[in-house]
Amino acid sequence: MIDTNQFGKMPDGQVVDSYILTNKNGMSVEILTLGAIIRSWTLATDPNVDIVLGFDSVDDYLSDQSYLGRTVGRYANRIEKGLFKIAEKQYSVSTNLQGNCLHGGVDGFHNRIWSVSNLLERPDPSITLSLISEDGDQGFPGTLTVDVIFTLDQEDRLTIEYRGLCNQDTVFNPTQHSYFNLAGHDSGGIFDQQITLSANFYTPADENAIPTGEIRSVDNTAFDLRQPTPFGKAIKQQDEEIKAASGLDHNWCVDGFSQDQQKLQLVAQVTEPKSGRTLVTETTMPGAQIYTGNFLGENTLGKNNTKYAAYHGFCIESQFYPNSPNQAAFPSATLLANTPFVSRTSYQVKQKSQQ
Ligand code: GLA
Repeated sequence: MIDTNQFGKMPDGQVVDSYILTNKNGMSVEILTLGAIIRSWTLATDPNVDIVLGFDSVDDYLSDQSYLGRTVGRYANRIEKGLFKIAEKQYSVSTNLQGNCLHGGVDGFHNRIWSVSNLLERPDPSITLSLISEDGDQGFPGTLTVDVIFTLDQEDRLTIEYRGLCNQDTVFNPTQHSYFNLAGHDSGGIFDQQITLSANFYTPADENAIPTGEIRSVDNTAFDLRQPTPFGKAIKQQDEEIKAASGLDHNWCVDGFSQDQQKLQLVAQVTEPKSGRTLVTETTMPGAQIYTGNFLGENTLGKNNTKYAAYHGFCIESQFYPNSPNQAAFPSATLLANTPFVSRTSYQVKQKSQQ
């Protein structure tokens, strides 16, 4: 089932719509045409629990600096100094954090109005949101057509498929920036929730979170999260990189990734111990930024006047490694002209009884 409502209006009068996808189990995921945002995600078993952070108005989304629930592009995470080359041609893109390009630059995809290009009720409710990013948008080359397909299946799995097609060589690295809290968006810190990563390697980074280029084994490091680890423990580790980021905000390399296979690989499982609820994330992408909401502004007023603060949500942002356009040894984020891009990332909620 899909329900549609008007969510609000942009300052210029454009309408922002909300689409609620509900599966046969009664799980609902709400998507906005603003920013292709996931605004809410409610469970059939505990109807009062909403597992993603979000806002109640368009204005709140427009003033948000934390990318709550956004679809991020063209390039999620960082491009050093906003500079890169494709085939010897130099490009300079919008910089918005410490002189680097973060999440597509000042006017990335996250505040755009997306158009609804397809709605499917059956077998699984699904919505396709589309965007045309013109040649030169934030400095990126080529006119890029983007489709993001959100599908909620009967196994309580939301699969997000990203498609892109550009008329020139460009770079493309879309992601989803939902802040999850498996005890509910209004339940405070995520410290007790336990993360397990299927990642034997990570990409060490400098003090501005730009990878050094090394792909390092997690063995004997603070980045070894291959066994269930409470976020509270993971963020307090005595590690210079974790201290510099005030918590987790790092890229791990997804075990089993293969550029030509397009196979979903398990990357993360997070369990909330009281309810036993687990979020399983799989992706076809090579990396994932695990972010513990370290910079979520104090006094951010979210849905139902809930005060959000640092560590109230975690993000699992599937991606090419940060700054890949400047690291030839990393899996390539270059999208060649007239060549279709496809990637998929899925987030599945499992209740205790199903595990
Ligand atoms: C990503 C970045 C963080 C931060 C958040 C949004 O996770 O790596 O540094 O910018 O997005 O606030």
